[in-house]
Amino acid sequence: MTFKTFFQADAATRLYEQVMDYIQVRIERGEWKEHEKLPSVRRLSEELGVHRLTVFRAYQELKNKDKIYVKDKSGYYVQPANGQKDREPADDPVYGSWLQADNLARIHAIQVDYQFSKSLIDPALLPNRFWAELMVNMFREYPRLPGTYSTVQGDAELREELAAHFSNTGLFHLTADELLITSGGQQAIDVTARTLIRPGDRVLVERPAYGPAMEIFRRQGARLLTADIRPDGYDMERIEQCMRTEKPRLFYINPTFHNPTGFTVPAAQRKLLPELAERYGCVILEDDSTYDIHFGYKTPPPVFTYATTGHVIYIRSYSKYVAPGLRIAAVACRGDHLPGLLAAKSLTDNGSPLLNQKLFLQYFRSPRMQQHLEKLCTALQLRKEAMERCLADSGWTWHSPAGGLNLWVQLPRQVDMRRFLQAALAQSVSFIPGHVFDPLGSAENPHIRLSYPFANEGQIREGMQRLLSVYESIH
Ligand SMILES: Cc1ncc(COP(=O)(O)O)c(C=O)c1O
Repeated sequence: MTFKTFFQADAATRLYEQVMDYIQVRIERGEWKEHEKLPSVRRLSEELGVHRLTVFRAYQELKNKDKIYVKDKSGYYVQPANGQKDREPADDPVYGSWLQADNLARIHAIQVDYQFSKSLIDPALLPNRFWAELMVNMFREYPRLPGTYSTVQGDAELREELAAHFSNTGLFHLTADELLITSGGQQAIDVTARTLIRPGDRVLVERPAYGPAMEIFRRQGARLLTADIRPDGYDMERIEQCMRTEKPRLFYINPTFHNPTGFTVPAAQRKLLPELAERYGCVILEDDSTYDIHFGYKTPPPVFTYATTGHVIYIRSYSKYVAPGLRIAAVACRGDHLPGLLAAKSLTDNGSPLLNQKLFLQYFRSPRMQQHLEKLCTALQLRKEAMERCLADSGWTWHSPAGGLNLWVQLPRQVDMRRFLQAALAQSVSFIPGHVFDPLGSAENPHIRLSYPFANEGQIREGMQRLLSVYESIH
């Protein structure tokens, strides 16, 4: 089932009918289950950015159609299906998983021995043993740390350090005042979306795209438009035409070791993107969560490097490859975005934990950070190559990525993805079906995403052998 984008500003349907659709889709997908309490009128109206009366009317109409029921003074509940069409697919933990908003998390939650679905780095490759030492130093330097809130914008020392780092590495010059610290890249996308997107706005995304970002934009009521990302980058004509005619508010990009494909957009296109955004009044949101994970390849500068105005917002996350437990990311922006971002961040959590920021700062300043990155890139390259060797004679095809965490593999023949995934899970191997990343939700996608950084080389060999034989057995 394709997710139904709601709140189309140009739709003929009235707003309360769109809200009804939205509620029904979530019920059909099993996100709101039989007899489960629905959000209050006030909460849903805030979430969707519509008037309370609109939500009230939608609830009333659904009640009249026996889709939901009311318990006095308690609220609205999902009516059981009773004799209606079998709802097995949405209840199935695996098939349901890619019908749901948090589809990636659901597949990840299934325990397997050969983990190729998590685009996460094996904790054994992360610098765990230094943290205890850093922690002691940190408390010596800042004895009152647990008793202190961070500012909403984030620790000033950390922002100074990051600003100096971006400048010293020749990427871009900005001041600490132009940086915001968030709890990971995910929160940065969310905060930006809350700041910039209103229901009915158009948001251009790559196809395929990082699934949770699409869900954030949809939840804001955005209508998604797509531009393909290919091994050689974007179709710039398509992007320009789309910006000219559709006037998207935001273009969300992940141009460096793109998740899920691993593709990297060339520098020539990076230079052009800020110009286009400025010309057509669009804001580019550049998500960069694996910038330092490259395999002997000179990573091109971020798109943000070429931006002279506020038309590009840049997210650099360190959570994946330095310390997932600390979840540190920085948002860099010029122009007048910061007050809006600060307001959204303050409503979210009033500032990321200071302890995490100071601890990260200790590490970021130390020479260990660079040493860690060098070792990590080598280890990940070895894992990537191990996985590629397993696929060498399989007939499966992919573009070997120059960095990042994933192989985007095209299967030689179309299979029923649901059966393939279930059979693989039964053999304790996981992967992500390609259509999870498809903004258009096409079930015909012949790709799967295989992540190599979580499993060690032995596990990669065994797991890939199992996966290939499962595939051969599926018709
Ligand atoms: C493209 C992309 N953006 C954002 C995130 C979330 O990053 P973080 O873990 O820093 O919240 C991820 C994590 O998988 C990602 O792949």
